[in-house]
Amino acid sequence: MPGHHNRQNGIVTLATTCLALLLGLGITAPSFGQSFAGNWAATGRTLDNGEQEHYILQLKQDGGSLTGKLSSLGFATDVKGTASGNHFELFGPWDAKKPFVTGELVNGELHGAVFDNHNWVARPATAADALPTVPYIEPPALHKVADNGLAKTPPMGWNSWNLFAGKVDDATVRSIADAMVSSGMRDAGYVYVNIDDTWEGVRDANGNLQTNHKFPDMKALADYVHSKGLKLGIYSSPGPRTCAGYPASYGHEAQDAKTFAAWGIDYLKYDWCSAGMVYKNDQLQAVYQKMGDALQSTGRPIVYSLCEYGLGGVEKWGPEVGGNLWRTTDDIRDEWDSMIANVEKQVPTAPYAGPGHWNDPDMLEIGNGHMTDDEYRTHMSLWALVAAPLLAGNDIRNMSAATKAILMNKDVIAVDQDPLGKQASPVKNGNFETWIKPLADGSVAVGVVNMGPSAEQATIHASDLHLAGSVKKAQDLWTHKEVKFKNGAYSATVPSHGIVFLRVRSK
Ligand code: GLA
Repeated sequence: MPGHHNRQNGIVTLATTCLALLLGLGITAPSFGQSFAGNWAATGRTLDNGEQEHYILQLKQDGGSLTGKLSSLGFATDVKGTASGNHFELFGPWDAKKPFVTGELVNGELHGAVFDNHNWVARPATAADALPTVPYIEPPALHKVADNGLAKTPPMGWNSWNLFAGKVDDATVRSIADAMVSSGMRDAGYVYVNIDDTWEGVRDANGNLQTNHKFPDMKALADYVHSKGLKLGIYSSPGPRTCAGYPASYGHEAQDAKTFAAWGIDYLKYDWCSAGMVYKNDQLQAVYQKMGDALQSTGRPIVYSLCEYGLGGVEKWGPEVGGNLWRTTDDIRDEWDSMIANVEKQVPTAPYAGPGHWNDPDMLEIGNGHMTDDEYRTHMSLWALVAAPLLAGNDIRNMSAATKAILMNKDVIAVDQDPLGKQASPVKNGNFETWIKPLADGSVAVGVVNMGPSAEQATIHASDLHLAGSVKKAQDLWTHKEVKFKNGAYSATVPSHGIVFLRVRSK
C-alpha cells in the first residue's frame, strides 16, 4: 500500500491494519513498535459515590489516520484523529476542530492531555478492564399514561446544574432554599428546588439507589425544603448511567420512582444520555412511558420533566407518557448565541405547548455573568413569550439588583404563566425578531428583539397583534410604564440584543 506509511517509524500500514483488525477483536495492544492500534484503558475521575470512572479506547490506524471508539460506563462515541510519529490527536463528534486529547506514544502507553490539560494515560487494555455489559430490556408496548394534572402553567423554580454542576450538595441546596424565600423568589412563583446530576450513590444489596456523601439524608432535605413552602426535584436517567456517569434508573424504574416518592420528591428530570447505549431513538416514547407509569404508580404528584434534547419528535408524544415538559434543544450555555439558538430551535414545536405539557428550551442563565443585562432581559422575555419553564440557574444567595429585577419581574412572569399557555413564534424583519403571544384575557404580549450589533428603532403595528379591537392600553413590561400607540403604531429604540416588550390590551 504505497504512500501509507507511518511517517517516522516506517511501520507499513498493511501490517498496522492487520494488527488493528486483530486488536479490534479484543486482543490487547502489544507494546512494541509505534502502533496506536489496539484497545487502550484509561482511568478517569473518582465519582462522588466512590466509583472509579474508566475508559476503553479502541483504535484502528491507517497510516496517519486513526479511527475508533471511546467507551465508558455511561457513553460510547466514535472518535477519529491523526498519528504522526509518536504524536496523536483525537477528535470526538462534538467538535471537529479541537481535539479532546493530544499526546505521545511513550513506552507502549498513550500519554496525553485531555481538553484543558488534564493529564491522561492509557495503557494496553486487559480483560479486567472490560466494561460491564448491559442486558437489553424490552420497553413496554405503548399506551396512554393518564395526565397527572400538574404544571397547568410552566414549572418555575431553580436547578443546580448551570452553575454548580457536580459541586451541588445538601448544604448548598438548603442555603438556596433559604434564599428562595428571603430573596422573594418563592413568592414570585419559583417553587421547585431541583437537584440535578451527581447526587447519586450506589445501589444497596436490594437494588435501592442510595445518595452519595454529598446528600446524607434526602428525606430530611425534602422535609427542610417543604418546610420553606418549596418543593424538591431530583434527576435520573432511563439509561444505566446519568450524563455525569452516575448510576441511573435502567432496570430499576419502578423501584427508583418509589424511592423518590418515599423521600418526598416532587419533580423528576429524566435525562436520556446513556439510554442511547441501550435503546434506539425510535424507542424514546416507550422508554419515557416506563418511568411515566412508575411515577404514577407511586400515587405521589411528581412533575415529570423529559430531558432528551429534542430527540424523537418528543412534542408529539410527550403528554402520552405523562410528561409535563420536555427539552427541545441541546444544553444552554451562558452566551447570547446559545440562548438564541435554543429558543429559535423550539419554534416548530409551538403548536404542542399547552397547560400541563410544555416545550423546554432549557434552564435560565440569568445572573451567571456572561451576558449583558440587556441580553438577560431578552432571555427572560423570550422564555416568557414561548411559555417556557422558568428554572433559574444562578446563585440565588448572591444576586445583583439587576438579576433580581429580571428574574422577579412580575409582569413578565405573568406572561409566562398565562393560563392560555400559547407559545409565541417569531417574525423576522431586518435585524428585528417580533414574538407575539395571545393571553387568556384577550390582551397580547409582544416582544421585539434587536438581533443586530447596534441600537435601532423598532415599530410595533397594532394591526399585527390580532387584537379583538383597537389598542386601549399598552404597558412596557420592563419600564413598567404605560406607552401610547399613535396612528396604530408604537416606536422605541432598542439596544443591540435588547428587547422592547409590551402587553397590549384592547379592552
Ligand atoms: C445533560 C442535561 C443537562 C444536565 C446534565 C447533567 O447534559 O442536558 O441539563 O442535566 O446532563 O449531567
